[in-house]
Parts: sequence; structure tokens; C-alpha cells
Amino acid sequence: MDKHKIKKSKITGIGFHVPEHVVTNQDLSTFMDTSDEWIQIRTGIQKRRWVSRDEAVSDLAIPAAKKAMAEANVFPKDIDLVIVATLSSDYFFPGVSSQLQDKLGLRTVGAFDIKVACSAFVYGISIADQYLRSGTCHTALVVGAEAQTKFINKTTKGRDMAVLFGDGAGAAILQVSNNESGILSTHLHCEGKNLYNLWMEGPGSSSPDQINAMTNEQANTYEPLMNGQEVFKNAVVRFPEVIQEALDHNNLSINDVSLIIPHQANLRIIQSVAKRLNLGLDKMYINIQRYGNTTAASIPIAICEALAEGKICKGDLIILAAFGAGYTWASAAIRW
Ligand code: UT7
Repeated sequence: MDKHKIKKSKITGIGFHVPEHVVTNQDLSTFMDTSDEWIQIRTGIQKRRWVSRDEAVSDLAIPAAKKAMAEANVFPKDIDLVIVATLSSDYFFPGVSSQLQDKLGLRTVGAFDIKVACSAFVYGISIADQYLRSGTCHTALVVGAEAQTKFINKTTKGRDMAVLFGDGAGAAILQVSNNESGILSTHLHCEGKNLYNLWMEGPGSSSPDQINAMTNEQANTYEPLMNGQEVFKNAVVRFPEVIQEALDHNNLSINDVSLIIPHQANLRIIQSVAKRLNLGLDKMYINIQRYGNTTAASIPIAICEALAEGKICKGDLIILAAFGAGYTWASAAIRW
């Protein structure tokens, strides 16, 4: 390859893994005050997967990573960067990336977790892309994985979140591209002033006495909280904005887009984004009905399923777009 030509990175393998346990809306209505009708009308979700009591996020991330490696025909010795996007690591520290480095038999390469919620997979792709384009790394593993239902209040008190979220993992291998296909650009954002609309306080160093927090009145800090309507209102603005940013950066128009793979937050958010972009829903990949909102895992799972359904072809322009806690939002333009 011409040394002076600007390099690109591309996804050369992708895989996903979800827990076996399927939880339907009907199942939820047996232990909290909700209904299949409410959930489907407000979110589009029919079912989701939940990890079992003895499953952790690494149990989802490892098989997803192995599938991506097999598809890319990449061996453990080839990988020189590991990034795991997750909010629900097995332990408070270290990150899941350390477990992946060990369990996948990788060399002692750089491995770290990133905690930017639903935007984390796109952030991870962006970081890997910089390392690959600079020539610092050659083969990166980027995983988006969540076992977040372990943290969710599964009573009526937590129903706004319990009906929405699910568990799963998706992984991608990124390598340097020798042709026109690959990541064209990535765009990352954060607006921390809104962070309290979607957050979980503990365990955190804001607590005056973390060790005893679970045994005193602070125990309720160990539960994610969401101002759903505010998050919704922000998401429907930020998604189109960051998609347009990706198009403008590459001198492309919305008519050039073959498929948008949005973070699967809520069907109504995806419908609203399509309307704002003047796009048919057929240009928005949707699988939230089967998995719910799997936070950092939703985009890689959606890419896998879109590929399997023949909805992504060689040469297509694909836009990944995400919005989530932080608030963070991000996009990636990819020539497949
Ligand atoms: O991944 C990115 C982060 N998250 C998101 O993108 C989520 C964005 N927000 C949302 O998806 C929606 O705001 C929700 C799905 C969370 C809630 O839908 P909504 O249409 O905004 O409902 P709402 O919060 O305005 O609540 C409407 C009613 C309330 O009852 P009243 O006050 O009208 O009597 C809620 O108490 O629905 C009630 N409600 C429920 N009812 C049955 C809230 N959750 C439920 C539930 N089942 N699970």
C-alpha cells in the first residue's frame, strides 16, 4: 500500500452472543405492574434476554469475541488492542478487557474498558480506528457487552427501566483496509450537564462512606435512575444531528445512505429520527423488538443481524449512531 495514502480501518469480522433466558413482556407483567400492550406501544419491545444468576458480562463478551475472531480469521497472537464497551463489568475493577486478554489467550497487549453507556461501542470503534490509521496497531478487538439487568430494580418501582433494558454482547475485529471500504469518519460528543437524567450513583467515590453504603440509607444509590422523557427528547435531536455531522464531514447526503444502524433505545425514538431525516423506516435497522435496549451491545448485535438478513452489501454506506448516558452521543460513517 502507498505509504502516503491515508489509511482506513475496517470491520473484518463481527459476532454476537446473547444469554439463553428469554423474558417476554407477559413474563414481566407477572412480577411488576406493567402490560404487554403498554410496553409494545411505548417502546416496540416484545422480549429481551436476561443473564442468569451465575452469568456475568464476560460470559457474553468472550463467545461474541471468539465469533468475531473466527469470522475475521484472526488468531489470538494477531490482536494488539482490546477495547470493551460496557457499563456492567463483572467487577467494579478491573475492566472486562483484562478477562478477555486472559481468556482469549492474547499477548500482553493494551486492553481497557470504556464507560460511555449506549454510545460506547461507537466510541470504541473510533478509538480503535485512530490506533489502526496511525499504524500503532494492526488488529483491534472492540466489544460491546452488557449484563445490566443484574443492576435493574425488577419491581414496579423500577419498571420504566426494567421493561426497556436487556443483556447481550457483540464484538468486532478491526484491521487496516487496503481498499476503499472502511471507516470514513467518527464523531463523538458529550454534554455532562444532563448526566443526572440517566445515571447510577454507586458504587462511586461521591459517597462519603462507600464501604458501609450498602448497609445504610445510601443503599438506594445502587440502582440506575432515568428521566425517560428528558432522555427521549434529547435523543431525537442528537441522533439526526450526529448522523448529519457524519454526512457533512464526508460530503455525502442522506440519499447516499444505504442503512442507518441506530442504537436500539426505543422504537419510537428510531421512528422519530427517521421522520426528522425524511427517511423511510426501511433505511433504519430495527431489532429492538427481540432484544430490548442492550446499551453498548445494541449496535454490534444489530450489525450482525443486518448482515445475516442481507441488509448490508459491499460498497454500501452505513451510518452507526448512538445516544446514551453521560449524555454522550456519537456516529460513524462506514463504507462497507
Ligand atoms: O438507551 C438510551 C437511554 N434510554 C432511552 O433512550 C429511553 C428514553 N425514554 C423512553 O424510552 C421512554 O421515556 C420510556 C419508555 C422510558 C417511558 O415512556 P413514556 O412514553 O415517556 O412514558 P412516561 O414516563 O411518560 O409514563 C407514562 C405513564 C406514567 O403513568 P401516569 O403518570 O400517566 O399515570 C408512568 O407511571 O406510564 C407509566 N409507566 C408505565 N406503565 C406501565 C411507566 N413505565 C411503565 C411501565 N408499564 N413499564
